[in-house]
Amino acid sequence: MDATTTLALPHVHFAPAQNWMNDPNGLVHVDGVYHLFFQYNPFGAEHAHMSWGHATSTDLLRWTEHGVAIPCRDDEEIYSGSAVVDTDNTSGLGAPGEAPIVAIYTSAARPSRLQRQSLAYSTDGGRTWQTYAHNPVLDRDSLEFRDPKVFRWTGGDDQYWVMVAVEAADRQVVLYRSDDLISWRLLSTFGPAAAVGGVWECPDLFPLAVDGDPNDVHWVLLVSLYPGGKAGGSATQYFIGTFDGTRFHCDAEPASDHDARWLDHGRDCYAGVTYSGLPDDERTLIAWMSNWDYARVTPAVPSRGAMTIPRRLSLTRGLDGTLRLRQEPRLPAALPAAEAFADIELDTPWLVPAALPEAALVELSVRFERAEGFAARIRHGEAGQDGVVIRVERGVLMVDRTQASGQWHPSLASVEVAPLTGDHRVDLRIVLDRSSIEVFADDGTTVVTELVYTEPGADAMTIEPLRGPALVESLSIVDLTAVGANAAQS
Ligand code: FRU
Repeated sequence: MDATTTLALPHVHFAPAQNWMNDPNGLVHVDGVYHLFFQYNPFGAEHAHMSWGHATSTDLLRWTEHGVAIPCRDDEEIYSGSAVVDTDNTSGLGAPGEAPIVAIYTSAARPSRLQRQSLAYSTDGGRTWQTYAHNPVLDRDSLEFRDPKVFRWTGGDDQYWVMVAVEAADRQVVLYRSDDLISWRLLSTFGPAAAVGGVWECPDLFPLAVDGDPNDVHWVLLVSLYPGGKAGGSATQYFIGTFDGTRFHCDAEPASDHDARWLDHGRDCYAGVTYSGLPDDERTLIAWMSNWDYARVTPAVPSRGAMTIPRRLSLTRGLDGTLRLRQEPRLPAALPAAEAFADIELDTPWLVPAALPEAALVELSVRFERAEGFAARIRHGEAGQDGVVIRVERGVLMVDRTQASGQWHPSLASVEVAPLTGDHRVDLRIVLDRSSIEVFADDGTTVVTELVYTEPGADAMTIEPLRGPALVESLSIVDLTAVGANAAQS
């Protein structure tokens, strides 16, 4: 294979039919429809002519792609941003008594390179979009002011819109308020803090309950950065604290990189933001499944760029009292029947006697009191060569794709390392697709997302105990190929 090889689109991850895609934009849920806008080049597979592409879904799994929603112009690219339903028509952009959907995006001006915030709006449920006549609505005379995420603050006597955006090069989140989405005034700033090895991008700020308790709610601030991510290149850190309608205050004062907490320990989960228009206990994130280190050279399959599986977010409190962000893949409740195995004692490598579909949900629980750990190898093709290897040892999860994707870029031949709390037992949920793997461990508080470009796709799995016997308490494999977005094309 070389960089011009055409592979096949993923089964259960959104990817446009052609061209370049990066960040998710304008995630908004309206009348039962999930809108997914995205950074898109309508003209080719390079990062250029940035516009907002558009797709919709009713189950977050099967997506229908639509025409470009907000196209670039000669003097302006349409960079990342968000969308809200303006229920009370505060902006006046809807017809009297009607609620427009308003998109707030970064106008990246050409040739000045100034980055300012602008509006576009839809009065037909997101089908067509007009740009606001008096754009931009917010200008700091900055070349690095971008990625506005807007939400409605309802926590005090006063209700208003809050925007979180970044001064990217200053490693700072800036917060603004508005009554009408049109005129904005500065509330406060946050940062630099924790990981500052690269520009800050794509912030999000939202409340989450701890283990479902509505009386124990904390605010989470997501900040993506590039470079300086945990595994190298792009990644997203998070802060947990309070928000009083003006200022975000982090619970623990994070001083350095060591204090950074990572949404994902892999290399391919970037610019993730959450849906507007869902109840707080359905806070759902989608991220771009790539990394600026190599996004430009990954194979076009035939498009270049895919999204992560949508993930429901919540907070959980560890035994030591610390709060951690938990992610759970959002898959439909009704899935095909699983191939299931239980209580398999392993002294030697075990070739799982079931096919491993190219797209699958794999749930695996292993105990290894008398071993150092185990390795689950995902194998490909008749030669049975290793694809990606998941290795669990005491307190550590490793995802090794050195045998899978290295030919595209040296950083794609990587081994990621993430912490695990348990020493002798682990539960893994793995979402596998043609060109990616997402591993959720420790009840979703440790996640590793990796691109894996191999051909053909996965077809078998071997589980191997490491220096001692291990017990596979349970293994279930659900075939997702038949329920996937691109099932018809496979
Ligand atoms: C993040 C990012 C954003 C910007 C967009 C441009 O990946 O760099 O900061 O708005 O991509 O495509």
